[in-house]
Amino acid sequence: MLRSFLIYLSKAAWAQKLVTSWGFAWRTASRFVAGTRLEDAMRVVRELNAKGINVTLDHLGEHTNTPEESQQATDDIFATLDALGADSSARGNVSIKLTQIGLGLDESLCAGNLERILARAKQNNTFVRLDIEDTPYTDKTINLYYMMREKGYSNIGIAVQAYLYRTEADTRRLLEDKSHVRLVKGAYKEPPDKAFPKKADVDANYDLLAKIMIDASLANESKLSNGGRVPPMSAIASHDEKRIKFAKQYAEKIGLPKDGFEFQMLYGIRRDLQEQLVKEGHCVRVYVPFGLQWYPYFMRRLAERPANVWFFISNFFKG
Ligand code: FDA
Repeated sequence: MLRSFLIYLSKAAWAQKLVTSWGFAWRTASRFVAGTRLEDAMRVVRELNAKGINVTLDHLGEHTNTPEESQQATDDIFATLDALGADSSARGNVSIKLTQIGLGLDESLCAGNLERILARAKQNNTFVRLDIEDTPYTDKTINLYYMMREKGYSNIGIAVQAYLYRTEADTRRLLEDKSHVRLVKGAYKEPPDKAFPKKADVDANYDLLAKIMIDASLANESKLSNGGRVPPMSAIASHDEKRIKFAKQYAEKIGLPKDGFEFQMLYGIRRDLQEQLVKEGHCVRVYVPFGLQWYPYFMRRLAERPANVWFFISNFFKG
């Protein structure tokens, strides 16, 4: 109930206007967001890299409403890619949302922006991951992913959501094409004809998909490469200790080397677990969002964990 309401608020323009006008809202959001400027993000890249953690940078933004806005978002992504290009020691790549670069406006406009982003990433010797959004965009995202692969871009990966029934078939097909896949549970509100309504079923599907991905990584001898910038085929993105334990044990059982897969977590969440995995010799990548468009991202983080709502409220009382 609370989750659905917060996800509704994440998309409501009136709520965005209201919440972003409260100073204490940014104070709470900044636990999950590296800062508003690219310099803030690059500082966090250096800090995390020093701890042995790789990064993926997200210049926050989604659902642009005009071609000009989608162009601005594309230019912002170019700036992030150029910053990584300028610092060859930075172990980082970039994550983007296709609605950020015009998917909701016009697919061919979005395809053009995506192709220019991939070309810019190639010049800067790095990799781009497509985040996966809600189901009106799933097919379109997967289609554009394949379009770019057919055009010869190999520096691209995609995310898949364990809560969707369709994801097993999507993942098998993506892995046959040796794709770099990030497995997440799914952060949006989906109807029961599209997504498992029960958390236990999502978790069981997550483990099944992790197993399929880890098998594919072993079969393809996939490894972390390019100075930590290009991820292995399998990225297990979760803070759920049971899912992490399952993936670790399964990879060990079949003999997948530790650099044959990576764990991914969000900035500001379970730092202890991130560092513990690094100590154990695992590859860890942290998703680092930054920029002014933090509202929908932040609301989804509140929706994931009711305790975050109390943290938000307590910041209000701190004044
Ligand atoms: P679960 O929600 O069961 O949480 C397990 C534990 O993790 C909790 O008990 C708590 O300790 C901690 N935790 C989880 N969320 C927290 C939060 N917000 N605040 C504090 N603690 C929290 N989704 C999507 O639909 N498309 C995408 O492209 C991506 N991309 C993405 C990248 C990366 C690197 C990650 C880690 C996640 C995503 N997600 C995503 C989000 C994902 O779908 C999911 O909503 C969150 O990861 C929460 O699910 P967990 O797997 O962590 O499990």
